[in-house]
Amino acid sequence: MSRWTIPAVLFAAYATAQTFTHCNPLNETCPANPALGTTFEMTFNESMSEFDPNFFNVTAGADLISFSEEGAQLSIAKQGDSVTVGTAFYIMFGTVEMLFKAASGQGIISTYNLLSDDLDEIDLEIMGGNTSTVSNNYFGWGNTSQINSEYPSTTGPGWQGGAMGAVHNYTTVWSEKSIQWFMDGELVRTQEYQEPGLYPQSPSFLKFGIWAGGDPDLPKGTRKWAGGDTDFDEAPFVMTVQSLRIVDAHTNVSYYAYEDKTDGSWQSIKAIPGESNAYRLMHEKSFYEKTEQKWNGLSTGAKIGIACGVLGVFLLAFIVFIFYCVKQRRSGKAEKAAADKEWDSHQQELDEYRTRMKRGDFAVSHMGHGEKF
Ligand SMILES: *[C@@H]1O[C@H](CO)[C@@H](O)[C@H](O)[C@H]1NC(C)=O
Ligand SMILES: *[C@@H]1O[C@H](CO)[C@@H](O)[C@H](O)[C@H]1NC(C)=O
Ligand SMILES: *[C@@H]1O[C@H](CO)[C@@H](O)[C@H](O)[C@H]1NC(C)=O
Ligand SMILES: *[C@@H]1O[C@H](CO)[C@@H](O)[C@H](O)[C@H]1NC(C)=O
Ligand SMILES: *[C@@H]1O[C@H](CO)[C@@H](O)[C@H](O)[C@H]1NC(C)=O
Ligand SMILES: *[C@@H]1O[C@H](CO)[C@@H](O)[C@H](O)[C@H]1NC(C)=O
Ligand SMILES: *[C@@H]1O[C@H](CO)[C@@H](O)[C@H](O)[C@H]1NC(C)=O
Repeated sequence: MSRWTIPAVLFAAYATAQTFTHCNPLNETCPANPALGTTFEMTFNESMSEFDPNFFNVTAGADLISFSEEGAQLSIAKQGDSVTVGTAFYIMFGTVEMLFKAASGQGIISTYNLLSDDLDEIDLEIMGGNTSTVSNNYFGWGNTSQINSEYPSTTGPGWQGGAMGAVHNYTTVWSEKSIQWFMDGELVRTQEYQEPGLYPQSPSFLKFGIWAGGDPDLPKGTRKWAGGDTDFDEAPFVMTVQSLRIVDAHTNVSYYAYEDKTDGSWQSIKAIPGESNAYRLMHEKSFYEKTEQKWNGLSTGAKIGIACGVLGVFLLAFIVFIFYCVKQRRSGKAEKAAADKEWDSHQQELDEYRTRMKRGDFAVSHMGHGEKF
């Protein structure tokens, strides 16, 4: 059932170029892109429960993500599953360094891509059935007739099991001069600058994840590109992301704006100065976190001092409370005594009254004389 709900065009877009954008700034007036404007670094571990929504948008497979001491685990459990995570921020040239272990499994793709609103794209794609190479690629303006992919080798020392054997460092360094792809510190490809439409040069966000290019429901070309049909009986297929480091080449920038329907050249895109939302979120911690950090940073002596202070305040409050109770009790006692006294005198009066009645004093006094007293 679910497999029919997966848009095949989404998969095809991965295999070739990204062909969808919410708003193409070459054609229409689009909102500016929120910038990173700084360096973002994160090592994923078991204490996390999700990709921090301040910085990431999970657009597919949120329930297929888990966290362990090895990192974030993105998995495919059955046909139709995929996981897509995107950053909420854009960079305008810079560096992406992701340490991850690719998922094994024929036709299973572990990938990261830099994508822009006018469909520039820089890719790294790893086929889970191929232990001898990985793939990198780029596109300008979503032009699917461009063929730029290369396949650096993964057969050297340290690459037992290919990209699926262990965590490796895949770094892409992107500037107005060139794109460089590094694997475990080794430069495996350099692409020099070309004109707009051929060379990616517009603000881009990072998208990463896992999908099955070998899904038997996909077009034959896609499955072939992915390295063959996927056998879902071998699931789960798991991509493990240990850490992510993203450097924006521009600092102290809040937005990137395309000037009116430009030529898409990097020179035509304006970096708007200011503090980015991402920067602010990274630097403003909750009051609780700050307090906790302050407490943890204190010496034992200082902690004891503060504990004593707090205890002292409690003790003082307790003493004040006791005094209050005693006082209340005392005044209560006095009040009761007064009330008793009043009752007694009242009772006395009553007794007296009765006695007089019996004696007939009132009758006498009513007579007006009362001399008998
Ligand atoms: C621009 O918009 C027109 C009309 O919607 C469309 O036909 C064309 O393909 C678009 N061009 C780009 C580059 O998106
Ligand atoms: C996990 O990462 C968080 C955030 O970086 C860090 O505060 C925490 O100490 C880490 N936990 C472990 C067990 O490494
Ligand atoms: C992330 O999600 C927000 C909210 O849905 C959206 O406005 C933004 O465009 C998304 N960012 C990217 C880079 O897709
Ligand atoms: C791995 O990919 C390379 C490049 O596409 C290809 O030449 C090779 O045959 C592939 N190996 C396997 C086992 O699929
Ligand atoms: C797409 O790229 C090809 C190869 O570089 C080029 O010949 C063609 O003109 C481009 N198409 C468009 C619409 O830009
Ligand atoms: C990953 O590779 C890049 C490029 O060579 C390098 O600058 C960086 O220090 C490496 N990161 C780690 C964690 O080794
Ligand atoms: C960042 O840019 C703002 C706006 O132009 C400016 O006021 C501020 O001084 C800059 N901060 C730094 C650290 O450069």
